[in-house]
Amino acid sequence: MEQGTTVSEEIVRESYSTRFDEYVELFGSTASAHPSDRELVGTWTDTLTGPVLDAGCGPGQWTSFMAGRGAVVNGIDVVPEFVEHARRQYPGLTFDVGSFEALRTAAASLGGVLSWYSLIHHSPEDIQIPLAEFARVIRPGGGLLVGFFEGSTRGPFDHAVATGYRWPVAELGAELADAGFEVIETHTRTGGGYRPHGAITARRLRAG
Ligand SMILES: C[S@@+](CC[C@H](N)C(=O)[O-])C[C@H]1O[C@@H](n2cnc3c(N)ncnc32)[C@H](O)[C@@H]1O
Repeated sequence: MEQGTTVSEEIVRESYSTRFDEYVELFGSTASAHPSDRELVGTWTDTLTGPVLDAGCGPGQWTSFMAGRGAVVNGIDVVPEFVEHARRQYPGLTFDVGSFEALRTAAASLGGVLSWYSLIHHSPEDIQIPLAEFARVIRPGGGLLVGFFEGSTRGPFDHAVATGYRWPVAELGAELADAGFEVIETHTRTGGGYRPHGAITARRLRAG
């Protein structure tokens, strides 16, 4: 099985900084997202109680979308250009520059974490690092929604920005279970000229 190495935060920062304008143009609005993604993120948000973190928020479009559903939501991203853009676009919301691998968020204090395509540069070897941090900050019963590139085997591929990793839904689900989550729903979508898409919603189990 192909493995590979997690893209370092430094490379993530440099790579997205270089292609910042292009990324915002292509993905900076939820209006251009697939309708089923808007439906999923929206209905999932409605199930949450308590503050929500958009982990790896990029331009902040999903942060704003969740706020529009009534959630109290912050965004965090390791790329300063994204955070500056999000602050300009959505001045009523809070965005921080930082890593979701080491959040300055109290344990069990969040109702949910959205990780929409933000784990795609983590190799299977390292995926537990951010998942453990999500498990730490989400309260028992709180939600996690992960969007990702789906594939029949896990492994790296050439993503336009930096090496990406695809996952079979069952294998990423097993990683979530190892991190202390119960998988609630899985979604896949293929076609339309896009790479296969996957999404998993999960609930934080009580520790121990
Ligand atoms: C494919 S983009 C997705 C951005 C946004 N969620 C969206 O749907 O447009 C991946 C994002 O994850 C962020 N990211 C990757 N690793 C991160 C880390 N350790 N901490 C914070 N952000 C990270 C990147 O900077 C980038 O903005």
